[in-house]
Amino acid sequence: MRYPGLEIRRMQPGEYGCLEEFLYQAIYLPPGVVPPPRDVVHLPELRVYTDGFGTKKGDYCLVAQAEGWLLGAVWSRIMRDYGHIDDTTPSLALSVLSAYRGQGIGTRLLHALLSLLQGEGYGRVSLSVQKENPALHLYQRAGFEIWGQTDTEYRMLRDLAPGPHPPAAPLGPAGSPVFP
Ligand SMILES: CC(C)(COP(=O)(O)OP(=O)(O)OC[C@H]1O[C@@H](n2cnc3c(N)ncnc32)[C@H](O)[C@@H]1OP(=O)(O)O)[C@@H](O)C(=O)NCCC(=O)NCCS
Repeated sequence: MRYPGLEIRRMQPGEYGCLEEFLYQAIYLPPGVVPPPRDVVHLPELRVYTDGFGTKKGDYCLVAQAEGWLLGAVWSRIMRDYGHIDDTTPSLALSVLSAYRGQGIGTRLLHALLSLLQGEGYGRVSLSVQKENPALHLYQRAGFEIWGQTDTEYRMLRDLAPGPHPPAAPLGPAGSPVFP
């Protein structure tokens, strides 16, 4: 463990208000880009990640906590977000507060959510990530494979069937369907 004392646990319903902050933190900012205003999370295309969280099938959230502080979160929903595949496949969002990145917390959160979804009987999970976001490597290591792409983003899919998951195939546009 690279971060001793860290606990990964389910987010409690009373903490769902924190999701807006974790959603804001999940916005990838390339070097030198000015952060958007915080109310960007109230745009309709972002509210799908948080509105009424906990009320729908497929709503699961895990947090990383240390010394009473929430340092990161990963959550899934069946939603019409950028990672949407179909109406039975949850897609996920992941963020770690900036001061705590690069210490293995995001990886632990991601693997814990994959296990949770597998245990709940889901066959796959999706996400979207900007092509230039280094988080792409994290997702590939966790077995996500490219399912589609736009000019700027990959949509990725992870099979949750039991069994070992070798690293995803190397990147390449060949054979990848384009976003509808
Ligand atoms: C992506 C993120 C959740 C990863 O959590 P983490 O605890 O930093 O990740 P870990 O320490 O477990 O793993 C390190 C990997 O995370 C990614 N990563 C590390 N720092 C990152 C950063 N500042 N931004 C984005 N990804 C980062 C890299 O893939 C890195 O692996 P690599 O060095 O081999 O490329 C976290 O860095 C973050 O919140 N980034 C900003 C928001 C974001 O990009 N969210 C994902 C949207 S799809």
